[in-house]
Amino acid sequence: MAAERIKKTTVIGSGAMGHGITELLAMNGYEVTMVDINDEILQKAKEKIQWSLGKFVEKKRIRQEDAEATLARIATTTSYEQAGKDADFAIEAAPENIELKKTIFAKLDQTTPSHSILASNTSTLSITEMGKSTQRPDRVAGMHFFNPPHQMALVEVIKGDGTSQETVSTLVELARKLGKTPVVVRKDVRGFIVNRVLIAASNEALWAYQRKEATILGIDASVKYSGGFPMGWFELADFSGLDIAYEVGRILYEAYGERFKPCSEVIDPLIKDHKLGQKTGMGFYDWTKGRPRIPFNLLDEYDVERSWAVAVNEAAWLINDGAANPEDIDTAMKLGTYWPQGPCEHADRTGLDVILNKLKELHAKYNMEMYTPCPLLEDYVGKGWIGKKTGRGLYT
Ligand SMILES: NC(=O)c1ccc[n+]([C@@H]2O[C@H](COP(=O)([O-])OP(=O)(O)OC[C@H]3O[C@@H](n4cnc5c(N)ncnc54)[C@H](O)[C@@H]3O)[C@@H](O)[C@H]2O)c1
Repeated sequence: MAAERIKKTTVIGSGAMGHGITELLAMNGYEVTMVDINDEILQKAKEKIQWSLGKFVEKKRIRQEDAEATLARIATTTSYEQAGKDADFAIEAAPENIELKKTIFAKLDQTTPSHSILASNTSTLSITEMGKSTQRPDRVAGMHFFNPPHQMALVEVIKGDGTSQETVSTLVELARKLGKTPVVVRKDVRGFIVNRVLIAASNEALWAYQRKEATILGIDASVKYSGGFPMGWFELADFSGLDIAYEVGRILYEAYGERFKPCSEVIDPLIKDHKLGQKTGMGFYDWTKGRPRIPFNLLDEYDVERSWAVAVNEAAWLINDGAANPEDIDTAMKLGTYWPQGPCEHADRTGLDVILNKLKELHAKYNMEMYTPCPLLEDYVGKGWIGKKTGRGLYT
């Protein structure tokens, strides 16, 4: 089905992401039925959308009549039958739990017309498994929006094992119609692109802290002020929620083994004490008095090239696995997390030989799997494809 045929849509789950995706779809002219487990939750979600549209009017980004027309395109219900019966496209943004998501996909399969495309906004769970719980795995895919969906430009479109190329193309087109930049994740790999590279890089810093090589403030100051990243790794983990970082980290460890060995000594006590970051007021930092102050003078405490080396290594694994190409990896990291440059561009500028040496040096020192170079890096360096200076690296 071509994206132009999508008129009516359904969003399952009206929480942080669901209500944002609903707003985005409705603002772009789609009729949306939003589903949740009870009417109170739906009512609150609708109020949030109304509030957000009001802000757009205030900032003169849309007119009052556009806000009203957008709201008029949104219906709410607790009934899958009602929501599904004439939907051309449905996306679920229910809690991150594979069994729940499989049940939701089975229900959507029964209640939506056979032509409709079913998508999941999961951050990391298996699209293939969700597809298998339907009779139409070819029309099931991942469509991973970032928070908040109306602001963040990136959408990862994920191909499950059973997803057809046509479905991927339709969702890429739909993302563009919503004003987003889609990147295609060609294999159903855990963490997709952004979470996988991001957690790899921040895990290195967590271990550096655990080994007492640098302080939390020193690492974050170096990452921000020397590295040019928008937030330090600890600040970002607190901001996103340590429970989420912990859960995604656990799934990555399950999928890729020792390369994602979690730094349990540091993170487990915080989870146990329910210090989950900004949302609970406490995490690595105390958020009760606002955003943490990260002092400029510590900007040399941690060598940011270590974070880059591990990020580049993970990007190399994505390329090696046939899951993504360098352009898409770089686009995803810049738009999904505001990195100052993508890991592949960084590698080609720095030199793959320099990155490889850094990984080898760290591996010799710490004997940890996260520093074992991806064979693709060894291969490229062996061929003399070391980046800009030789005309070929991860890019040509
Ligand atoms: N929060 C983020 O920053 C973020 C970013 C990208 C992706 N995601 C992913 O989006 C999904 C949703 O995350 P969230 O942060 O919006 O969660 P959330 O907890 O804010 O919202 C989930 C909503 O789903 C509802 N729900 C639960 N069971 C349901 C069911 N059976 N049918 C319909 N609705 C049901 C809940 O009542 C709740 O309103 C997750 O898969 C998450 O990994 C989250």
